[in-house]
Amino acid sequence: MKVNNTNYNINNAGETVTLHGWVSKTRNLGGLIFIDLRDRSGIIQLVVVPECSDYEKASNLKNESVIEVLGTIQKRKQINKNLKTGEIDVLIDKLTILNEASDLPFDLNNTTALEDTRLKYRYLDLRHDDLKNNIIIKHKIMQSAREYLNNEEFIEIETPILCKSTPEGAREYLVPSRVNKGSFYALPQSPQIFKQLLMMSGFEKYYQIARCFRDEDLRADRQPEFTQIDLEMSFISEDDVMNLTEGLLCKIFKDVKNIDIPRPFVRLSYEEAIDRFGSDKPDTRFDMEIKDITRLFKNTDFSVFKNVIENNGIINTIVVKDAADKYSRKDIDKLTDFVKTYKANALAFLKYDGEFTGSIAKFVSSIEDDLLNNLKIEKNDLLLIIAGNKKIVKNALGFLRLKVARDLELIDFNKYNFLWVTDFPMFEYSEEEKRYIACHHPFTHPKDPDKLNDKENALARAYDIVLNGYEVGGGSIRIHSPKVQKQVFEALGFTLEEAMEKFGFLIKALTLGAPPHGGLALGLERLTMILCGTENIRDVIAFPKTTSASCLMSDAPNEVDPKQLDELHIKLK
Ligand code: AMO
Repeated sequence: MKVNNTNYNINNAGETVTLHGWVSKTRNLGGLIFIDLRDRSGIIQLVVVPECSDYEKASNLKNESVIEVLGTIQKRKQINKNLKTGEIDVLIDKLTILNEASDLPFDLNNTTALEDTRLKYRYLDLRHDDLKNNIIIKHKIMQSAREYLNNEEFIEIETPILCKSTPEGAREYLVPSRVNKGSFYALPQSPQIFKQLLMMSGFEKYYQIARCFRDEDLRADRQPEFTQIDLEMSFISEDDVMNLTEGLLCKIFKDVKNIDIPRPFVRLSYEEAIDRFGSDKPDTRFDMEIKDITRLFKNTDFSVFKNVIENNGIINTIVVKDAADKYSRKDIDKLTDFVKTYKANALAFLKYDGEFTGSIAKFVSSIEDDLLNNLKIEKNDLLLIIAGNKKIVKNALGFLRLKVARDLELIDFNKYNFLWVTDFPMFEYSEEEKRYIACHHPFTHPKDPDKLNDKENALARAYDIVLNGYEVGGGSIRIHSPKVQKQVFEALGFTLEEAMEKFGFLIKALTLGAPPHGGLALGLERLTMILCGTENIRDVIAFPKTTSASCLMSDAPNEVDPKQLDELHIKLK
């Protein structure tokens, strides 16, 4: 079996070896041909002298051809400190071309190719070290997770991919059934119901590295098919799930990056996260927290802000330290356009340099000291202020905070800030569906089942794990009482009949011996993205989809033969 080419070093000098790999680069220097031979482990240099019987072959070698060589390891004349094998090269006796590469669609030694071209030839792009390493890091994360969970006596169990369609959250992918005319399977958005049923079967601790499918709008951190490290436990509380998850994440970071993450992780309630960071997935690698200054403006006669206060709105600010001189009027206009995309009406600003200047300076003279003291303002600070409805203000400032931190390079990319967000709302109002939907999923245990009617304020026993501003996982304690489950379905506007039709098997199981249980799922790709230092989810998936959910390499999805549709009893509109 093949040995990694980069296992060889100066101690092997004089040995005759057979090597395999891809031609990464060739150089002809005064008769000597140098070949960079690449395999999974890296690069080793080959040398072909004019006297070699395969010299002709070597001089016509095309990049990315696959070759086999027989040669002798020798000490290099000029050491290359950047290569693991930089002290040696291999003097070639015999060269065999196993597969000659034709003209390449892009030059692998030059990274300027368009992403579409690289996706079309993904198998070539995966030959790049960075992409290959990302895939290997993902493998290490999975191995580390398996090891940890096996040690904790979890059992790895597969659950179906062809499932019943259930309204759980995102839109589902449907698969027509040939045998059952007019019926469809749905691909699982997550193994949620099955893992709960496994608790009812008595497995007590389950995990799965599970493929999930969601037909939703795609973003830089979302793919239509992705993977969860999914787990569920019986007879546990929130603390048990959180402690176990912290242990799991700490082991992954240690195994993959040799980084020690301090425990316990910070915990923030959802309300506090929104108040201080304008987000339920706060990035705490930098400060610039959102401050409420509504009270101060009660004493001014700035009618716009007074109006907002009279209509139960709020006035909030972020203070950008020592940055007033970095923002021109034009820059502020750009920030205003930015916050408008998050529905804020306007962005006010103040600069402090011994006195306030800026768009609302003339209105703050009476509250100058209050502003200075409350916000600990120093010279050259910039205040960015938004007034209006609480949801909009917090959300817009949350995004503005991130943008400013990026623009000013305030983020320390060596930090890994984990935190828990707890006490999520039970429900959120969907403008699209014009009804309340479950914030997490309909099987989440309410904090107080008697308060489900107060939909705006009902809280859930749900928690998210956040890392550097990404939601890397989420979970909850589940309902194990059929009565509470029915109450939640009712609160979500399902009639009992509808609930029974969709989830009858779960409701029935809840009446046949259901232990208290809960769990969580980590987004494997999001975790991998952060560990690989990339912001593009495609960089951590071997064969990803584009933002329009297609595969440029295989051309999926594609039209199918009318005969296939016929067998499935489907007629296209
Ligand atoms: P949730 O929907 O929060 O919970 O998903 C868990 C985690 O999966 C990741 N994730 C995604 N990653 C890439 N692309 C996507 N389209 C995508 N959607 C979600 C996120 C998210 O935090 N069954 C519950 C878990 C539970 O309650 O145990 C669930 O699926 O990192």
